[in-house]
Amino acid sequence: MTVRAPMRPPKANEPCWCGSGTKFKRCHGDSSMRIRPGTQSPMREVPAHIERPPYAESGRATRRPEPRVKSPDVIERMRRTGRAAANVLAETASHIRPGITTDELDAIAHDLSIAADAYPSPLNYQGFPKSLCTSLNEVICHGIPDDRPLRDGDIVNLDVTVFREGVHGDTDATFLVGDVDPESRRLVRVTRESMEKGIEAVRPGRPISDIGQAIQEHAEAAGYGVVRDFIGHGIGEQFHTDLQIPHYYTPHASTIMEPGMTFTIEPMITMGSYRFNLWPDGWTAVTTDGLRTAQFEHTILVTDDGVEILTLPG
Ligand code: MF3
Ligand code: CO
Ligand code: CO
Repeated sequence: MTVRAPMRPPKANEPCWCGSGTKFKRCHGDSSMRIRPGTQSPMREVPAHIERPPYAESGRATRRPEPRVKSPDVIERMRRTGRAAANVLAETASHIRPGITTDELDAIAHDLSIAADAYPSPLNYQGFPKSLCTSLNEVICHGIPDDRPLRDGDIVNLDVTVFREGVHGDTDATFLVGDVDPESRRLVRVTRESMEKGIEAVRPGRPISDIGQAIQEHAEAAGYGVVRDFIGHGIGEQFHTDLQIPHYYTPHASTIMEPGMTFTIEPMITMGSYRFNLWPDGWTAVTTDGLRTAQFEHTILVTDDGVEILTLPG
C-alpha cells in the first residue's frame, strides 16, 4: 500500500485537490462551484394501507423509552426491514447518472419503499420534507432532494430509511456520478473502509468507543477529517434512540456493547475541515471550507460473538 503524506485543505493559490491543475480558488475553491438550494416539489403522499410511524402526521418525533437490547421478535422484524431498506438503496442508486435530479431519485425511493410495504422514514420526520436524503459533494448529510440535476464528476450520498413491521432500517452509501476525479474516489473508498473498520470493531463486552477509535485511525491516517456533530444512533421501533455512536474516539462512549443491541455506524469523512454550517432550511449540513465529504451507513446487531449487518440487500 502507498503511504501518502496527510492532506490539509489546499490554500487559495495551490493547485486544486481535484487534479485539474487550476488554482484551488479558481476551481473548487470558487464559491460558485458550491451546491446551492434548488426548488423542492410538493410533499409526496403515502397510501393509507402503509403502516405509519407515530410522527408521520404531526412531524414531531417524541422520544419514548425503548430497550437497548432488543427482543428476538424485534430482531427478526429488523432483519426484514433492514433488508428492505438495503434493497431500496441499491435499486434507487441504479438510476444515478448525470442529468437525473435528486427529486427524481426521491420519487424512485418513495415508490420503491411503498412497493415494499414500507413507510419512507425521513418523510415528515421532525418536519423533513422528503423520503430520501441526497447529499452532494460538500454536503455532509441531510441534503433535501430538489430540482438540481446530478453533474458529471459529482459524488452523491443516498440515505435510505424505511419503517415496516413497526421497526426502522437505516442505510446509506456514496456514489460516483460519471467520471470522478481521483482524490474524490479516494475519499469515497477511505470512507467505506472507515465504516467497515467501525463495524469490525463491534464486539460484545467492549465499549462503544472502540468503534470511533477504529474509524478515526483509518480516516486520519489517510489525511482526512471525521465529522463530530453527526453520529450513529440506536435504532429499532424508533428512528433514533438515546444510544450514541461517535465516529471518533471519546472516553465518554463507555457503554458496553451487549448482544441484542441494534445501532447504526455512519461515519462522515471530510477532505478538509470536519466542521459544519447549516443552511437556512435547517437540515442541509455542509463543510465550512466547501471541500468534499462522503458517508456510508449500516444498521447493525451486536451478536454473541461479534456483529451482524442488518442492512444488506437480498
Ligand atoms: N437517515 C439519517 C440517519 O442516518 C437521518 C435522516 S433524518 C431526516 O440518521 F429527517 F433527515 F430524514
Ligand atoms: Co442513521
Ligand atoms: Co441514515
